Amino acid sequence: MKILVTGGAGFIGSNFVHYIYRERPDWQITVLDALTYAGNKANLEGLDPQRVALVIGDICDEQLVDQLFADTDAVVHFAAESHNDNSLTNPRPFLDTNIIGTYTLLEAARKHNKRLHHISTDEVYGDLELDDPNKFNENTTYNPSSPYSSTKAGSDLLVRAWVRSFGVQATISNCSNNYGPYQHVEKFIPRQITEVLEGRKPKLYGSGENVRDWIHTEDHSSAVLTILEKGKIGETYMIGAEGEKNNKEVVEMILELMGKDKSDYEHVNDRPGHDLRYAIDATKIKSELGWQPKYTDFRSGLADTIKWYQDNEAWWKPQKAETEAKYQEIGR
Ligand code: NAD
Ligand code: TYD
Repeated sequence: MKILVTGGAGFIGSNFVHYIYRERPDWQITVLDALTYAGNKANLEGLDPQRVALVIGDICDEQLVDQLFADTDAVVHFAAESHNDNSLTNPRPFLDTNIIGTYTLLEAARKHNKRLHHISTDEVYGDLELDDPNKFNENTTYNPSSPYSSTKAGSDLLVRAWVRSFGVQATISNCSNNYGPYQHVEKFIPRQITEVLEGRKPKLYGSGENVRDWIHTEDHSSAVLTILEKGKIGETYMIGAEGEKNNKEVVEMILELMGKDKSDYEHVNDRPGHDLRYAIDATKIKSELGWQPKYTDFRSGLADTIKWYQDNEAWWKPQKAETEAKYQEIGR
């Protein structure tokens, strides 16, 4: 089996590559990644180059994509511009990569008749009230809020249209917020851990009542492999691990696990259009495909993640000052 992984040098994509490398030792893996600010070659260090090849290139590059599709059995598409705050400052790269990039891959999948799994997010569904008893499921209406989530929604709709109009063999998954090793320091959990490691206070947007449904990235990987191997063409699967926590609780837990006073954080300006709550109903993937998450204890997964950032300062340090300078500019 030959598999092409777009965005495989980013956070979730590289965790997936490591997962496949361990779980499917006879698979050949090619990573296609543009190595934007979010991609890092170091995420793939330690993997045998005979089994994992990195091609540095853009998913919008038709010729390159065509060539790589000709020589693979299946494609898992993680590549994206992925950070909401960046999408509010400069939306254009989100349109290029998330929309045109996905279109480019779909056209190649159509031409070469290759299996494609598209990675999406729960953010395409907008947000929920704190007391809403209903969670997002595969039939929830799309209602994205930001340039990031609207371009991800657009990419999902393209996938659906290419399945229906052209018979492309694709599946989609919409996952909740991931945490774990190799996540860029611009994102919520790594930002707070590294702020504490640098002797500063965690930064909570607004009141901190916003809820995210956390899943360990290893569980995301196992779900994606399950869909790739057992999913039904044309179907969408929600991925989540019942990990709802509000941001204040997460910051307090980080501080506590790092031996600090749990009130030792600061409030900063809120994000414009900030989604209030995400929550996933993952009944379909559990009942139809038999998937189950393994990292069900958020506290211990978070403790492991803190330890990873403590042990891997050389990995995150080069990006930290630049990331904080960007936040300073937007007052967050
Ligand atoms: P990330 O920003 O860490 O990684 C994205 C990767 O894509 C980087 O390696 C980057 O270099 C690469 N890339 C960007 N533009 C490219 C282009 N034009 N051509 C080739 N490569 C390009 O993102 P992530 O958090 O790992 O997210 C991966 C996927 O999972 C995205 O599709 C995202 O929407 C989705 N997702 C993320 C989360 C989350 O919590 N982070 C949750 C659900 C779904
Ligand atoms: P983030 O990691 O950006 O993911 P998303 O916006 O895709 O859910 O943010 C997670 C939550 O944390 C979100 O509610 C915004 C909030 N947040 C903070 O409170 N402080 C921060 O420094 C960051 C980056 C995010």
